[in-house]
Parts: sequence; structure tokens; C-alpha cells
Amino acid sequence: MEVKTSLLDNMIGVGDMVLLEPLTEDSFLENLKKRFNHNEIYTYIGSVVISLNPYRSLPIYTPDKVEEYRNRNFYELSPHIYALADEAYRSLRDQDKDQCILITGESGAGKTEASKLVMSYVAAVCGKGQEVNKVKEQLLQSNPVLEAFGNAKTVRNDNSSRFGKYMDIEFDFKGDPLGGVISNYLLEKSRVVKQPRGERNFHIFYQLLSGASDDTLKKLKLERDVSKYNYLSLDSATVSGLDDAANFRTVRNAMQIVGFMEDEMQSVLELVAAVLKLGNIEFKPESRCNGMDESRIKDKNDLKEMCELLGIEQSVLERAFSYRTVEAKMEKVSTTLNVAQAYYARDALAKNLYSRLFSWLVTRINESIKAQAKTRHKVMGVLDIYGFEIFEDNSFEQFIINYCNEKLQQIFIELTLREEQEEYVREGIEWTNIEYFNNAIICGLIENNQNGILAMLDEECLRPGTVTDETFLDKLNTICADHQHFESRLSKNSKFLNDHSLPHNCFRIQHYAGKVLYRVEGFVDKNNDLLYRDLSQAMYKANHSLIKQLFPEGNPVKVNLKRPPTAGFQFKASVGTLMGNLQTKNPNYIRCIKPNDKKASHVFNESLVCHQARYLGLMENIRVRRAGYAFRQAYEPCLERYKMLCKNTWPHWKGPARQGVEVLMTDLQVPAEEFSYGRSKIFIRNPRTLFFLEEKRKQCLEDLATLIQKIYRGWKCRSHFLLLKKSQIVVASWYRRYAQQKKYQKIKHATTVVQSYTRGWQARKLLRELKYQKKCEEAVTTIAAFWHGTQARMELRRLKQEVRNKHAVTVIWAYWQGTQARRELRRLKEEARRKHAVAVIWAYWQGLKVRREYRKFFRANAGKKIYNFTIQRIMQKYFLGLKSKLPSMSPIDKTWPARPYLFLDGVHAELRRIFHLWRCKKYRSQFTEEKKAVYEEKLEASELFKDKKALYPSSVRQPFKGDYLEISKNPKYQKLSSAVDEKILLADVVNKINRANGKGSPRLFVLTKKNVVLADQKTGQLKANVPLTDVASVSTSSQTDGFFALKLKEGSASAVKGDFLLSSDHLIEIVTKLHRISSMAADREKLNIDISDEFLVQFKQDKVCVKFIHGSPKNGNSVSCKRKNNRLLEVSVPASS
Ligand SMILES: Nc1ncnc2c1ncn2[C@@H]1O[C@H](COP(=O)(O)OP(=O)(O)O)[C@@H](O)[C@H]1O
Ligand SMILES: [Mg+2]
Repeated sequence: MEVKTSLLDNMIGVGDMVLLEPLTEDSFLENLKKRFNHNEIYTYIGSVVISLNPYRSLPIYTPDKVEEYRNRNFYELSPHIYALADEAYRSLRDQDKDQCILITGESGAGKTEASKLVMSYVAAVCGKGQEVNKVKEQLLQSNPVLEAFGNAKTVRNDNSSRFGKYMDIEFDFKGDPLGGVISNYLLEKSRVVKQPRGERNFHIFYQLLSGASDDTLKKLKLERDVSKYNYLSLDSATVSGLDDAANFRTVRNAMQIVGFMEDEMQSVLELVAAVLKLGNIEFKPESRCNGMDESRIKDKNDLKEMCELLGIEQSVLERAFSYRTVEAKMEKVSTTLNVAQAYYARDALAKNLYSRLFSWLVTRINESIKAQAKTRHKVMGVLDIYGFEIFEDNSFEQFIINYCNEKLQQIFIELTLREEQEEYVREGIEWTNIEYFNNAIICGLIENNQNGILAMLDEECLRPGTVTDETFLDKLNTICADHQHFESRLSKNSKFLNDHSLPHNCFRIQHYAGKVLYRVEGFVDKNNDLLYRDLSQAMYKANHSLIKQLFPEGNPVKVNLKRPPTAGFQFKASVGTLMGNLQTKNPNYIRCIKPNDKKASHVFNESLVCHQARYLGLMENIRVRRAGYAFRQAYEPCLERYKMLCKNTWPHWKGPARQGVEVLMTDLQVPAEEFSYGRSKIFIRNPRTLFFLEEKRKQCLEDLATLIQKIYRGWKCRSHFLLLKKSQIVVASWYRRYAQQKKYQKIKHATTVVQSYTRGWQARKLLRELKYQKKCEEAVTTIAAFWHGTQARMELRRLKQEVRNKHAVTVIWAYWQGTQARRELRRLKEEARRKHAVAVIWAYWQGLKVRREYRKFFRANAGKKIYNFTIQRIMQKYFLGLKSKLPSMSPIDKTWPARPYLFLDGVHAELRRIFHLWRCKKYRSQFTEEKKAVYEEKLEASELFKDKKALYPSSVRQPFKGDYLEISKNPKYQKLSSAVDEKILLADVVNKINRANGKGSPRLFVLTKKNVVLADQKTGQLKANVPLTDVASVSTSSQTDGFFALKLKEGSASAVKGDFLLSSDHLIEIVTKLHRISSMAADREKLNIDISDEFLVQFKQDKVCVKFIHGSPKNGNSVSCKRKNNRLLEVSVPASS
């Protein structure tokens, strides 16, 4: 169910000032303050919204709030700017009424913020889609651009709009935005060249310097330092809470979104830079010879850079700063400018440049946001214009601004009254005249074409002759003196003659919102807004498309000698257009109020608010609104709200709402003059009647609340009780179920136990029986087995006995048989022997018989012949057999065929011996003489050494070569061979053993038939020549060594040097040869060969014993001779060699 709410619910103070009771300025302020202190910054005067600037962000602009106010009636919720925006938007969309939202208020009161809130609300609630969103975005993004160029920090507001702005937002029939048109009013261009203390120039200058990249600044020939530029105020170069650099990026971004091209942005920045440069151009006075004062530019660098930026020829601009050409009719007069005039010209140029740039920006934005579709648009205009300005020092600007506000007030009154009147007519209520102050008279004072102040100012400006602000004031004094809203000290009206609050050079106007004192100084100049033609022409000559566009009047082709329209004139015209525009639309008012001068939150300065309330004409506003009926409400919501006040309408009224309301009013006895019934609304004349109804409703609501509470509590308790009861039953049933389940489980368990016991018992019984049965069966089996066993054993025994018996019988039988058989065998053998003997005897007997029979047929020697023949045959067979089986011819072959007959034993052995001798002879017969000699030698060696010296067996294999060295053929031994004249029997290398150490030294050993010669082995030089006759004996050991001693005969010539102890590999040969030579010589006695393991050797004087022992195996296989002492040489011979 939708809950119907009302503005009247939970009001702090009164939400609508129309309901203020009593209506006084104090109660008005009191109500505003109370609401302000409760963060209720919005209050209504009928459909007008009063907005107090909270100077802090409040959480009342969230998307949730937007949703809350969306599609709700204006009075349904507490006052909010969204309610007004929603009302305007819906009326535009649904009723096809063009709307305008007029936002007024002093600088810093929150107008611009309000206009943005309205726009953002409309953007949030209107249609969506790619195209629509783009349009919305462009419309919203036009704000940052215009704010950068048109806003500045003032003492009142850090972001004060220094221009008036009216924006038409265009919608299609569905309420989707199509585009917009912006109009700007009167930019405060004086700010470009001079700012009041504590204020700044337009934001863009600071934003550019701090936000642009180094590169951009270089291109623009600018430096980042603000202090370098005369036109920029230093004392508030930075403003806390304003990030110029970041804002610069925002602005560039916004320009991009709105549709500025990159080169357009660049041009705009170049112009901004040019303005800064312009401010730095300074002049110095110079006197000319003709007595005229002239000015010169001090430092031309800035001028040069500016000209470069804008593409102007420097000399042209320089000249424009020095001369002024006045063209009158056909004449051209050129005058020089003094320093003051030059400065004036410079500033005028800067101001014009900037204000024209601003206007161009607006035009350019309009081009972008222009609605594309040609269909009929619905329009919502948002006017964010300066409110009334009442300063200490008010000049031309304030005059113009306040004039604009007068006009706005006028259409406000007009439109409000018109609307009121229209509603009365619509509702069929009789129109009662409403008294109010009509400010048309003030508007007349200012704008009247004949004697209006603006007209007179224009007249004065155009008048030839000297025109000053004073002459203008004089004129005012004469013409407006009688006007009841014009006050001047010099006017004829003597009333102000002694008014010291009104200085001589000022005039005062009683505006609808209060009196304002204007100082005339500057009025004429500002109205003229003069830019010397030389300058505009110089600008036109610039090689810069934007500059050229901004100064079209500089075009020499279109020289217009007519003066340009004055500022006042232009403004009046644009205000006129604006008013005309607004009048065609349904107005919605937002009145912004500033609660204090310090931009502080939570501070409510009553006098300040009172002042604003006055000049905004708020009291006037309320009065006009209350002039007829203070409050009106449609019948349905009215009946809905108050139906509880009458029994007939409570709780439901069945009939039409109007009748219900009538019954209600009659029942409540509200005096008839207090209200009127319209067609769809009830009109209540006095707020107190409404409050009476509200009071009654409040009481009634309390009673109703008690009643509702009572019934609700009763219902709640009852339902609680019922719930408890129901629960109890459920719980009880669950519990019973649980208990029964438990019990059942127990019984079931017990049954199972008993059952199991019984079954167990039965089973055990059965088991026992079965076991007994089984045991019985087993016993039977066992007994049977035993019995069978016994039986079997008995049988076995019986069978065994039987077998034994049988065996015995068999054995006995066998014995008997054996005996029988042996007996038989014996008998048979005996029989056979007998038979054999019989046969033999028979054979002998037969033989004998045969022999006896055949003896007579043989000769007497036949037997001998047969015998001989048999013998011959045997012998023949034997020899032939032996011949074929003869062994080889080798004398060492010991084989011999076996003897075939025993009787040939002797013959066989003899034949063997003979054969062996024969083959030896055969063997010997093939020997030559030399070989024979060799074998003889070998034989002799055998005789000498066999079984006497262990060396012998190894020498048998060695042939006795004799001359091993072949001395005669060897040239080395030529000398030696020539020394030995006889045939050499043996030549070999021997070792001559040294007595001193037992070591041997090699010597040539040469043996001839007569001598033994020892010579040096290398050279062959003769060492000893011993005649064999001097050799007494030779001693050798019985072992395997090759040692031998040649013992010389004592007293012989050779014996002088002593015996020779030598060793040789050919010992056997040498000694055999020595012995053979001695035995063959007839004149010599036989050489003694002495074989002994210990013999004496005569070394010169001493006899030394040479002893042979078996060497231990560790000495290896070699024979070693060691001198043991002076008389003993020990030769160790390896055991097995
Ligand atoms: N509704 C608001 N909520 C919060 N702050 C506000 C509101 N309205 C205005 N302000 C503050 O007051 C300052 C001045 O408002 P602005 O709209 O620029 O004033 P005006 O345009 O009337 O000169 C803003 O910068 C903002 O800080
Ligand atoms: Mg503003």
C-alpha cells in the first residue's frame, strides 16, 4: 500500500511560509533559522523554493533522494529543490508546458549550485540511451568550461559566476533531452585588468599557469610563475580547496566532450596567453617637440611575444598603442596617446579580447549542444543570474544588475498573480482583488525610452561636447527629480538636501528590495565601452582566425562610422529578450539566500538573511500568495488526511471526495468564510484554519493510535496465546510419541533378551544331545575298529603263520630238491666224467688202435720227420712273424715283440741282443771321423763325469763344438790367433775367479794340443800361456757349477803365478778335452781329474780352500762365489740346477 505523506508531516517550523502564523518578518526569520538549524535548507513559499546555502555538503542529493522525489506531488514530501525540478519536468513532459527555472540570489547564495542540481536531477530522471546520454553529458560538461572562463574568486564566493547565464534545455515529446542553447549576460570584464583586494582574476588564467604542461606553456610563451603577470592578483593566487591544475585538466576534458577541436582549444589558450602578455606591456612618457605628450612602450619583449602568438605585425600594434585615429565624416584625424590613454587603450583591448572570447565560447558551445532534430521542442530554461547587489560602492554594473532583478521581480509578480488568478478561474472561485506592490514604476524609471536613466545615459554618451559622469548626474537630477523612487542630493527635491548619507556624486534608487546608492563615476565610460578603432583594426589584421572573428568591426572594408551600441543599450535589449522569453514559460522560482558572510556552515546571521529576504521581496512574495487563499488542496488528499475527524467519513467515505470534504467541514463547524470549495480543490483562507485541522488530526491520530495499539496488542497477545497452545499440543504429542517409543524399545529389547536366552538354552541342550550322539557314534566306531583290528591282527597272525608254514615247507622242499639236485648233479658229473674218461680212453684206445693199425703203413723215421716238419713250420712262422714285427733302427728303442712259444725263450732273447748290436753297428757305421771323435769325447766325458758330477746330465745334450769364438775368423782376435800357432781345439770365454772377492772376470780360454792360453776378452791380449805339460790336475766339484781349477805342477815355470780358478759354461767339454789331450799324448802322464766339493788352489804364495755348498733358494738360481776369509772361498750352488 502506498503511504500518502504530506509536506505537513513532521514539519520543522512550517515547510511553507504561506502557513506562517502570524506573518511577520521576525516569525519569517525565526522559521528559516529553525529549519536551517535542523539542516532543512529548503522552505517553500507556495511553489517558490527558498534555498539557504549550507556551505557544506549535505546527504540530500543522493540517487536515493532522486528516486524518493521522482514522480511525487510537490507538497507530498518535505521541501526540496528536487521537488521543484520534478514538478517542472513532469509539467513539461506531461502537460506540454515550457518551463523556466529562475534562480536568483546574492553572489555566493548557491544559485549556480542550484542550477546544477536542477540539471543533474533532470538528467537523472529523463530518458536514457546512448544518444540521450551524449546530449546530457555535453549539456552538463558545458558548465565546467563556462565556469573556468566566467567564474572567479570573490570575497563572497570562491567560485563566483561573473556573468549571467540562461540556458534553454530542449526536450522531445518523450521528455528526452535534445540539446540546448545558452545565453550569457554581461560578463564582469573589468575583472580582467583589475581585481578588488582578496579577489582573483578569472579562474582560467591560474588554471592555465599551474595546470598546463611545460611544453604547452613554452608554446604559449608563458612562465608558470603567477607573479610575472601584472593582470593576476598575487594575494590570492591560490585558493584553498581549489585545485587549479586539476581543474585545468577537467576543463580540457570538458571542452573535448563538448566538441572543441584541438586547434580551437589551442587558439583559445593563445588568446588567454595574449591577455596575460598584454597586461605586461608598460608605457613611459615621452615629450615631443610640438609639445604633445606621447607614450612609448618600455620593454617591447612582451609586445613582441604577444604579436607572435596572435600573428600580428608588431609595428601595427605598436602604432595602435601610440595613436588614435578619429574619423569624422570625410576627415581622418590622428592624435597621439599620452601614457594614461595608452594604458586605457591597453586595458580596453584586454577587456574586449577576453569578453569577446567568452561570448565566442558560448556561441561555440551552443553550436555543439544545438538540438539536431527539427521537430517542435519543449523547453526548460534555467536562469542563473546575479541577484540584487547592494554594496557600499555601487557602480554601473550594480545598476545594470539591479535593473535586471527589478525586471525579474516584475515578471515574478505578474506570473504569480496570473497563475493565482488562473487557478481561481479554473476552480470557479470568485476573484478577490489582491493588493501588492507593483515595481513596474521602478522599471520605468530605469528603462523608459524617453526619460529612463539608461536612455539618458545613452543620450549623454552620444552627445557632442564634453561629457562627464557629472554632466550625466546633472541630467538625471533635472529629469528624474520628481520620480518617487529616485533620490539625489542635487535634485530639486529639497527633501535630500541635508541627507548626508547621500553624497554629491551619487544618486539613489528605491528598488523594490531596498534603497541602493550609486556612484556615477565611470558610468559614461563603462556605458561607452570604447575600444579605439586602431586597435580593433590591428586585431583584425592578425594572422589568427579566432582573433579575426572576434573583431569584425576592424575590417577596413566595412568601416562603420556609427558608434557601436552602448553597454546599457545592449543589456536592456538582451534583458528585454529574456523577459519576453520567460513570459512564455511556466515559471519556477528558486530564491537563494546566504546565511552568513564567512562562507561558514552552521552560522545563521539574522541581519544578513533579513537583508536578503527583503531585497528578494520574499515577504512581498508571501503576501501576494496569501492575498487570496493561503492554502489549497485537492479533495482526495484532503479527505484522506482529515477523514478521521468525522464519524461519517471514518474509516471510509463511499461517495465523491468533495462531498466527503463538505460533510467533514460542516461536522467540524469551520466558519464558512474560512474556506471555499473549488472544482477540484478546497481553498483555505487562513493558515490558522489549516492548523486547527492539523491539531484536531493530531489529537485524533493519537486516539486512533491508542485504539490501534489496543487492538494490535489484543491481537498480538491472542495470537501469541494461540501459538503457545498450538505449540503445547505439538510438544505434548511429540513427547508422548517419544515416551511410547522409548517404552516400546525397552520391551522389544527385553523380549529379544529373553528370546535369546531361551534359544541359547535350547541350542545348548540340542548341542549336548548331538555331542552325546556323536560320542556314541564315535565309541561304536572305535569299538568296531578295535574289534576289526583284533580280528585283522588275528587273521594276520594266522596268515603269517600260514605263510611261515608254507615257507618252511617250501624251504624244506627246496632243500630237499637241492639235495636231490646235487645228488643228481654229482651223479651226472660222475656219469659225464665216466663218459669222458670212457671217451678219452676210447679215443686213446682208438688212437692206439689206429696207430697200431696204421704203424705198418709208416716208415721207421716218419715220426721224426713229422716232428721236424712241425718244428720247422713253427720256426718258420716265428721268424716270419718276427721279421714283420721288428722295432725301429734307433739304438735307444727298447721295444721287442713278445715271445710266442715258451720253448723259444732263449732264442728270442738272443735275437733281441743280436738285433740291438746290429742296429748299433749300423748306427755307428754312418758316423764321420770328426763325429766319431766327438762321440769319443762324449764317451770319455761320460766315463769321467757320469754319476760323479751333477752337471754332467745337462751336458749330454750339448754338442762339443770346440771353437765357440771362431778366433781365426774374428779379426778382433787376429793377434791372438797369430800368437797361437797350433790348431785351436777349444776357444771359449771363461771367468777367472779373483781370489780377493770371489768375483769372476771374463777371459778368452784357448786350448791347443800343447797349451792352455788365457787372453783378454776384449782385446785378445795374451795373459797366460801354460803348456799342458805344466798342468798337474783339474779339480771340480760334484755339483752343477762350472768352477774348475787348473792346478799346475809345483816347480814348473807356469806355477809361479799360481793355479787358475776358472768357471765356464762348458766345463765338461773343457775338462774332457784336457783329459783326452793328455791321454792321447804318449809322452805325458794322464791328467788327474779330481772331483771333490772342497779342494785347495794355490794362489801365488797361499793355498786357498774352495768349498762348495748347497745354496739356499733365496740366492736364486745363480752360482755365487764369496770370499769367506783369506783362506776360504765359498761357492754356493743352487740345489736344483
Ligand atoms: N546546496 C548546496 N550544498 C552545499 N554547498 C553549497 C550549496 N549551494 C552552494 N554551496 C556552496 O556555496 C558556494 C557558492 O555557491 P554558488 O552556487 O557558486 O553561488 P552563486 O552562484 O549564487 O554565486 C559553492 O561553491 C558551494 O561551496
Ligand atoms: Mg554563480
